[in-house]
Amino acid sequence: MIGNDVVDFDDPEAQPAASHPRFDRRVFSAVERKAIAASTDPGRERWVFWAAKEAAYKLLRAADSTTVFSPRKFEVTRVGPSRASVRWQDRVLHVDLEIRQRAVHAVARGRGRRHVVLATAEHHGADPSRSVRALAIETLAQHLGAAPGELRIERARGCPPVLFLRDRPMGGGLSLSHHGRYVAFACERPPGAGWG
Ligand SMILES: CC(C)(COP(=O)(O)OP(=O)(O)OC[C@H]1O[C@@H](n2cnc3c(N)ncnc32)[C@H](O)[C@@H]1OP(=O)(O)O)[C@@H](O)C(=O)NCCC(=O)NCCS
Repeated sequence: MIGNDVVDFDDPEAQPAASHPRFDRRVFSAVERKAIAASTDPGRERWVFWAAKEAAYKLLRAADSTTVFSPRKFEVTRVGPSRASVRWQDRVLHVDLEIRQRAVHAVARGRGRRHVVLATAEHHGADPSRSVRALAIETLAQHLGAAPGELRIERARGCPPVLFLRDRPMGGGLSLSHHGRYVAFACERPPGAGWG
């Protein structure tokens, strides 16, 4: 299983002026708020923490559709410049962080840490859902040695997306995300698939 989340730091809702202490108290624990305040760039760090929570939630939700997103219950600890851990109930999930100038991409992985393909891109079209699918299909086709037309992504309402190759569901986890001008995905190597 896998979960990913992208946050565009330049999006109006990610601007420091749009932050509200009441929102922060609702979604971050006291320990998290202290860690965010102590960082070199608290305005961005709070979105790094948020992205880690959402990525962990998507992974858990893909495994169990009854998982509820109570942001404070996904407790984030930074464990380095590009890693965080997220504690949820008795589980601790590892989250890889790609922090760029204008966006953060968080990827939560399950145990076993199978090989993962991920990508982030700016999109300029009107439909981010379409852009992220195009990015995933183009990238994954290269890894699977397939033509993009042989891949498709389907998603039932309330469920995680599923990758199909030549009409066969591929198995490994796939997670899509879009925010502001950015789209991103992460995909685990499907069991038994050739993966270049
Ligand atoms: C799934 C969820 C986390 C998506 O997060 P988001 O920040 O709104 O949007 P993102 O762009 O990061 O992710 C959207 C993608 O998540 C994926 N997704 C949707 N449902 C999913 C699920 N059950 N499991 C995993 N992935 C899912 C989809 O691929 C979707 O993209 P698409 O619509 O283009 O197919 C969100 O819809 C959700 O359920 N949030 C919980 C709501 C909630 O309880 N809020 C409380 C706020 S305090």
